[in-house]
Amino acid sequence: MDERGIGIFDSGVGGLTVLHRLLEAVPHEHLLYLGDTARHPYGTKSAAVVSRYAVENTAFLTEKGVKMVVVACNSASAVALEALRERFEVPVIGVIEPGARAAVAATHCRKVGVIGTEATIASGSYTRALHALDATLEIYTRACPLLVPLAEEGWVDNEVARQAVALYLASLRQSRIDALVLGCTHYPLLAKAIAAYMGPEVQLIDSAAETAREVAATLVKHGLARADGAGSASFFVTDVPDRFVKIGGRFLGTTVDSAVRIER
Ligand code: DGL
Repeated sequence: MDERGIGIFDSGVGGLTVLHRLLEAVPHEHLLYLGDTARHPYGTKSAAVVSRYAVENTAFLTEKGVKMVVVACNSASAVALEALRERFEVPVIGVIEPGARAAVAATHCRKVGVIGTEATIASGSYTRALHALDATLEIYTRACPLLVPLAEEGWVDNEVARQAVALYLASLRQSRIDALVLGCTHYPLLAKAIAAYMGPEVQLIDSAAETAREVAATLVKHGLARADGAGSASFFVTDVPDRFVKIGGRFLGTTVDSAVRIER
């Protein structure tokens, strides 16, 4: 039994969709979540800046003595994963590779769509990860930046959400893909509107669920699992916790009672 915790970070509340899946997949673990709310969003920032933030977040978590770090943010996974793996000794798991693997398993027509923030799409990370698994895939990508504030506002199933989804996804629907990677932590909240627009023949791939499965498998593989006893979740933020606590519940699927502000 390895009693050490698992560190998870994101730019804010979005990674709570990953934490939600981790609570199901590794219920005995102690989970330490850092939301870098003072510097949110990452998806509109440059790769160099997001990489610097990712290193600082990982340093905070490793100083807390965690045995593994989960980059629960597509934008940070897209640009910083290699740097983190080189710099830190603990296993570092991102959301891109698990999402890509699930998409390759799901597609029959070999046409896959990927949506994400500007940073994620511009990095080409999903395209590289998908092509590494199957070079014959046709890949169609689209940045959908407005879906992030819509999800935070709770506008996920109204006319504005439906129109935004239709405007962003029109070209992907025309491309006749049959798997669509929700390559942003916020998009699972809009899954209903996205599924309704894309139609039943398109399977939505939730990177969060796939990542949680990978974390569970990696813990076992490295002999790091905490196999029984009650797990826990604790929260750290880099700005005042009010908004994180207020809207976090919608992303986590259960209330966020409190979060500790850390100085940056
Ligand atoms: N968590 C980010 C992601 O998955 C979305 C929010 C942001 O732009 O920081 O890319």
